[in-house]
Amino acid sequence: MQDPIAQDADTLCFGLHPDVTDLVVADRQAALHLTGDLRSSLEWNLEQTGLLVRRLRTGGLALDDWLDQAASASDGGAEAGDILAFLLRGRLLIWWHGTPDRRELIIEPVRGSFDPTTPVDPGTDLTLSELAVVSHADGEVVLNEPLAPVVLRILPSALSLLPAILACGRDPDDPAVPVLPPAVRDTLARCGVLRPRDADAPFAAAWTPWEWWLHHQLRDDGHLRRVLASSRRAKVPRVLERQVAPRETATPLPPRAQAQAKVPFDVVMESRRSLREPTETPLTRDHLGSLLWSVARYRDDRPAPDPALAFRNIPLAGALGEIEFYVAVHRCEGLERGFYFYDGTDHVLGSVAEPGEALDAMLKDVAKRLFIGDAIPDVVVVLSTRQARLSQKYYGGAYRLTLIHVGIVYEALYLAATELGLSPCAVGFADIGHFARLTGRHPFAETSIGEFALSGPVAG
Ligand SMILES: Cc1cc2nc3c(=O)[nH]c(=O)nc-3n(C[C@H](O)[C@H](O)[C@H](O)COP(=O)(O)O)c2cc1C
Repeated sequence: MQDPIAQDADTLCFGLHPDVTDLVVADRQAALHLTGDLRSSLEWNLEQTGLLVRRLRTGGLALDDWLDQAASASDGGAEAGDILAFLLRGRLLIWWHGTPDRRELIIEPVRGSFDPTTPVDPGTDLTLSELAVVSHADGEVVLNEPLAPVVLRILPSALSLLPAILACGRDPDDPAVPVLPPAVRDTLARCGVLRPRDADAPFAAAWTPWEWWLHHQLRDDGHLRRVLASSRRAKVPRVLERQVAPRETATPLPPRAQAQAKVPFDVVMESRRSLREPTETPLTRDHLGSLLWSVARYRDDRPAPDPALAFRNIPLAGALGEIEFYVAVHRCEGLERGFYFYDGTDHVLGSVAEPGEALDAMLKDVAKRLFIGDAIPDVVVVLSTRQARLSQKYYGGAYRLTLIHVGIVYEALYLAATELGLSPCAVGFADIGHFARLTGRHPFAETSIGEFALSGPVAG
């Protein structure tokens, strides 16, 4: 039996995008009804163009058929070409490899620049970019090529093509490398999924596949639209409540002393520096209280329409309070060594973990990344994120927002520490395992997302 994915008749086909709910054809014009109550329209003069538009209602047609029929019109296909270009620009078509009635590989345009009408010379040395990423979403295997204006969805019946797609252009002389059927190769080349070998931009090497993929998912309208339509969105657990520390055991922190001398903003900005080494004078509970008061406490004096909202002095998208503050204390006057949760509602610290191996490992990890030898910072402020809290509203964009939030918090911590005359330094990388060990939380529920070292006052 012939392999269904390598049938000679298979070719590039297309039909109306699922976003087009109806196509109403009248004399020389048609109305497209789109999801979200949107509409669009087409107009033409030639009878043959009208016949082609009507064929769109049949479910699917082969691109070559369309182009052949269009070319036989009195204008040589110019008007039908304009209609096709309009539908491509509006992402009003869905494409696939197979036959008009059978889909194997679905080619979903994510940009209006997608134009598969120009064939690629079969002799071209094609390859799949090393930045391509294969993932599994909504029950389908999806291939994202970094520069292609499409996403390739590989249906189960075509999964056996995947090795040949991934291997394309790798080592053509190696008989063990699977070969792509020419028709599939042609389809993928027309769609930009396979590209001439040297087509990658020189700066492609600056990106790992995962970074570029994430950037695309988070910054490209076409990809965002797909993410928002994901059925996984509905499965995000509802997390509404703020986290609090058990009141009985909480350690109260002093608020920022109102009498404290104020330093002008420009002086704070100009004198901010990363100071990594702990100084002779340890940090105190007053310092920590002042710093967290300015940056992290909840502002319940602001009228909040919804008690689940979390206003702090730092701006956070959606005011959903997904960022939490923890403090790993090594040396702080008035506070025992240990790992604490900062409860911004009552401005108190709740004990999370006693001193021990997990705390030591975490502090040492941070110290190593600050290049301070055997020294340990007085405290490390650990930021965590509860992804579900943001995903409820910003599904697909939550991680981007939470990283932006970390940057905001870092700068606020720098400025607050500078004003207090302390020694602050942000930390770019640290192992998420420390937080998981110290809190016992599953990273899906809550995971560390940033560390910030803080030590006592600078001498003088
Ligand atoms: C996001 C971020 C991550 C950082 N990560 C580290 C780090 O892991 N280790 C370190 O020693 N310094 C780190 N720093 C401090 C920078 O090295 C420092 O800001 C930079 O050298 C400029 O110096 P300045 O802060 O004194 O102006 C980080 C700073 C930022 C903003």
